[in-house]
Amino acid sequence: MNNILLVITLATTSLGAQPSAPSPIPAPLRELPWGQLNFLHTTDVHGWLGGHLREPQYSADWGDYISFAQHLRDKADADGTDIIIVDTGDRVEGNGIYDSSKPRGKYTFDILKEQHIDVICSGNHELYKARTASDEFRKTVPDFKGHYLASNIDYYNSDTQEFVPLAKRYRKFTTKNQGIRVMAFGFLFDFNGNANNTVVQPVEETIKEKWFQDAIRDREVDLFLVTGHVPVRDSQEFSLIFKTIRAVQWDIPIQFLGGHTHIRDFTKYDSRAFGLESGRYMETIGFASVSGVKSGGNEVLPQVAKNKFARRYIDNNLFSLHHHSNTNSSTFPTELGRNVSEAITSARKSLKLDRVYGCAPQDYWTNRAPYPSRDSIFTWLEESAIPEQVSGYQMSERNNNSALVVVNTGALRFDVFEGKFTRDDSYLVSPFTSGFRFIENMPKEIADRVLPLLNQGSPLGVNGLAATLPGHPGANLIQDITADANREYPINALQNRVPMGEIAVAGENDDPKQDLPPGYTTKDDAGTDGDDTEHKPIEFFAVPNCFAANVQLSKDNSKAQDDAQPETIDFVYNEFIEPWIVLALQYLGQDYSSEDTAPYMEGKSFTSLMTNWVEENWKCKD
Ligand SMILES: *[C@@H]1O[C@H](CO)[C@@H](O)[C@H](O)[C@H]1NC(C)=O
Ligand SMILES: *[C@@H]1O[C@H](CO)[C@@H](O)[C@H](O)[C@H]1NC(C)=O
Ligand SMILES: *[C@@H]1O[C@H](CO)[C@@H](O)[C@H](O)[C@H]1NC(C)=O
Ligand SMILES: *[C@@H]1O[C@H](CO)[C@@H](O)[C@H](O)[C@H]1NC(C)=O
Repeated sequence: MNNILLVITLATTSLGAQPSAPSPIPAPLRELPWGQLNFLHTTDVHGWLGGHLREPQYSADWGDYISFAQHLRDKADADGTDIIIVDTGDRVEGNGIYDSSKPRGKYTFDILKEQHIDVICSGNHELYKARTASDEFRKTVPDFKGHYLASNIDYYNSDTQEFVPLAKRYRKFTTKNQGIRVMAFGFLFDFNGNANNTVVQPVEETIKEKWFQDAIRDREVDLFLVTGHVPVRDSQEFSLIFKTIRAVQWDIPIQFLGGHTHIRDFTKYDSRAFGLESGRYMETIGFASVSGVKSGGNEVLPQVAKNKFARRYIDNNLFSLHHHSNTNSSTFPTELGRNVSEAITSARKSLKLDRVYGCAPQDYWTNRAPYPSRDSIFTWLEESAIPEQVSGYQMSERNNNSALVVVNTGALRFDVFEGKFTRDDSYLVSPFTSGFRFIENMPKEIADRVLPLLNQGSPLGVNGLAATLPGHPGANLIQDITADANREYPINALQNRVPMGEIAVAGENDDPKQDLPPGYTTKDDAGTDGDDTEHKPIEFFAVPNCFAANVQLSKDNSKAQDDAQPETIDFVYNEFIEPWIVLALQYLGQDYSSEDTAPYMEGKSFTSLMTNWVEENWKCKD
């Protein structure tokens, strides 16, 4: 009986979400822990405004999030509580709806701004390119007038030819129903990979500024809200801000909302200060609450009430969103939410994101399969896609010289699912537009030693190399770059990184956990009950920093030389890792510098190499 009901639910198309989105899978849910002051939080959305069209667990879109937030605001009004909506950056880059338009983001700013957001700040991805930073200054900051906070970012305004704050440094406001006086900040971690039209001031410097020192001494504050594109756990930036506020306000509750490491996390700073991090890619809508907050009034008595902090990580699908808003498919969508879902559909259509390049014969995983293995995306790339694309070029343009192609695993951002491989998928798997470069005719004996060196040290950072280079002139540079790379994909994030693939059908066997859909099973400082949906855990595998494809060709067919090793080869790599490649070569005692490198394949991008291969090899059945 249960099985039949489930099948019917799966077959029903959802109202709301994108037309091609799969319906969510019903699963046991935990309720939202409503309190006196509540928060809805997104972070590291990376353009996934359309939701996940291949994964039922995350299939709701930005329009649904708008409807959901409206219902929660209505509930807060009815109950006399308050809810604050926050986004902590990295909204751009990583999804075709942002990356594939010309100019980039052509459709996404107007979609994003329809959500009412009370506090919004910048991530590092908003600042890599001068163009993205100017889009923030000229579009997102005005779109969220007065709510965009940039506590430690300045922007070069080319009109006035001066550096100005990207947005307001802080915002003080009083909540609608409880009259809670909130002092809010919006920080970015100590990032230095930004284009030169912004300046990111190290947090250590910002906290010395008069405006900050004055703001934290304000006695007419009931709660500090520290938002930031900063990891909530073990980050020196948030620790420092916490200590600095605590030194002058021992009893005021502090809610941190962070991001950047793409994980679900909830961290305790002290009994009155907690931090929430809400995952990535619109998979998660974070919910946090604080109770026992002194509200308004003029009295400046020390606060003695005990604060209670709670959290929930909501799987972004309509089954969860209906449940938590006490609605159903007919009462859930608001007019605005529906309009925004339609705007997303129409943008995706204009960008032809559903265009099919081919059909994948199976799933290929970044972290859900061991490497090497037939289910690993890296094994597929190094054994098939890369050598087959590169060998043609080596034959026609490089005089049949053999090649070694080194790529960092971080260049692959997402899994390939069995079935249609679309233009959308190509941007999800490889959103980076940079191309390849190479060093010609490198002694093979040297080339073969680079990969092991790059893979030495921690599995997901390239810091192993920097650590082996004390005193090397490039070591500081490398440490800076790798510190950032590592923070984006720390190894411990693996435990919580859960891309979804399978649909679990209830009743298949007797283990109750086996009936649950696979997904996040988060452990944080409040325990193991944070996820709103009960999941069966997913196994994860660490992968090396880099992998390599060997393209062995024969220069002269007249001689049998199967066993002969070529003396020199073309050493090819993706542009992003050039600093590590050059350092590795120098470490090996070789006299190479970036001047010895040149564009390869006319700078053809990794994405187009991959899609060309898919078009040639993954024919669809009908
Ligand atoms: C940024 O660098 C470019 C190119 O080097 C230069 O033309 C420009 O003046 C710089 N801008 C600022 C604000 O320093
Ligand atoms: C949704 O709820 C409303 C109000 O409770 C009810 O009238 C309606 O029949 C429900 N619709 C569905 C599809 O369940
Ligand atoms: C939704 O779109 C319709 C049609 O364009 C428009 O008339 C209406 O005002 C929109 N509603 C909202 C709330 O934006
Ligand atoms: C390269 O190899 C191909 C196939 O083995 C052969 O047909 C061709 O003549 C070779 N070209 C050169 C320039 O050696």
